[in-house]
Amino acid sequence: MTSTDRVRIFDTTLRDGEQSPGIALTPDQKVAIAHQLARLGVDIIEAGFPVSSPGDFEAVQRISREVDGPVVAALARANPVDIDTAWEAIKDAASPRIHTFLATSPIHMEHKLQMSEEEVLTAVKSSVARAREYTDDVEYSPEDATRSDIEFVIAVCQAAVDAGATTINIPDTVGFATPWDYGQMISRIVTEVKGDREDVFISTHCHNDLGLAVANSLAGVRAGARQVEGAINGIGERAGNASVEEVVMAIRTRTEAFGADVGVNTSELYATSQMVSDYTGYPVQYNKAVVGRNAFAHESGIHQHGVLRKRETYEIMDPTAVGFSSNSLVIGKHSGRAAFKHTLARIGVELSDSDFDRVFNRMKQVADQNGALGDARIRSIVEEVVSDSQVMQAINQAF
Ligand code: KIV
Ligand code: ZN
Repeated sequence: MTSTDRVRIFDTTLRDGEQSPGIALTPDQKVAIAHQLARLGVDIIEAGFPVSSPGDFEAVQRISREVDGPVVAALARANPVDIDTAWEAIKDAASPRIHTFLATSPIHMEHKLQMSEEEVLTAVKSSVARAREYTDDVEYSPEDATRSDIEFVIAVCQAAVDAGATTINIPDTVGFATPWDYGQMISRIVTEVKGDREDVFISTHCHNDLGLAVANSLAGVRAGARQVEGAINGIGERAGNASVEEVVMAIRTRTEAFGADVGVNTSELYATSQMVSDYTGYPVQYNKAVVGRNAFAHESGIHQHGVLRKRETYEIMDPTAVGFSSNSLVIGKHSGRAAFKHTLARIGVELSDSDFDRVFNRMKQVADQNGALGDARIRSIVEEVVSDSQVMQAINQAF
């Protein structure tokens, strides 16, 4: 499989996902989730929309400074203030990306933007060019592309590429597309938007209003898209975004059908899903594909019999490949020391007796407030308490 057959995963949990009604993550929570996304191995983290609030600016800046691995992207409307602010927030990242967008559909241009096609074209060219003065990694999205005139979308995307855009992302902003028409649209963009460089990526960005976000994203991949945007647990505006875990496991499980694979460490999917659910307060439905608690549960006698004989009779994925363990220990406020020790060992954490006591007590406090704790949350408690105790030891030694 060549590098052109690898599908990049652009995770927008911290930007589009956070736009879900009622979710407001603190900068600390966003940084913790970004660390977990880096462990998961997504290619790009869209850390936020820096001009939208001081808290979002701070979170994007801290993620840029503290999280190693993925490209860090910041969203900006197609105007100088947004682009300059996005750059200020991400300029310390090892690999920074500015993601600028401007709508191309008649309904958005007329009623929201009050701009003509000519004005949209001009604003896209100048915004992409301005972003390129800061970084050589620039993404442009024609918002509401799927309700736009395809000829105009192609013209605007071509102008963006000519101005230096390296990724062209095609949003199905209102979840209107079907897999066949979205696939056709991506196919036309792939063949008709020409870059003079090899490095122009075509990307999908699908919303789930008709429950088709993952299907549409995968149709885009089949048509040649090599970046998929989505959010953990499918969170996002209204009915949400394409669910990262479903897209990743569909491509990984059916690599031959797609002629492409992902570079994600899939065994971190379950922990990431749990952490996002804990912090956002959005539950994961029991029967959610890949990460729901019933995703690998079997109740009927026939299925149990089959699975006991050979797991693959009723499972197309190995539960451990997405981070489920074969045991079902749940850590919460009622858990005892032995179960907690067992779980720490399973996730590779070894502690001295005194650190264990401190972590255990903190776990009880957090569990009192939050209920059951996932692996990623337990790891962050260990990091919080143990680094705290190292600081305390250093202070004690200094005096
Ligand atoms: O759905 C959408 O159109 C977006 C853009 C900002 C990319 O989220
Ligand atoms: Zn979106």
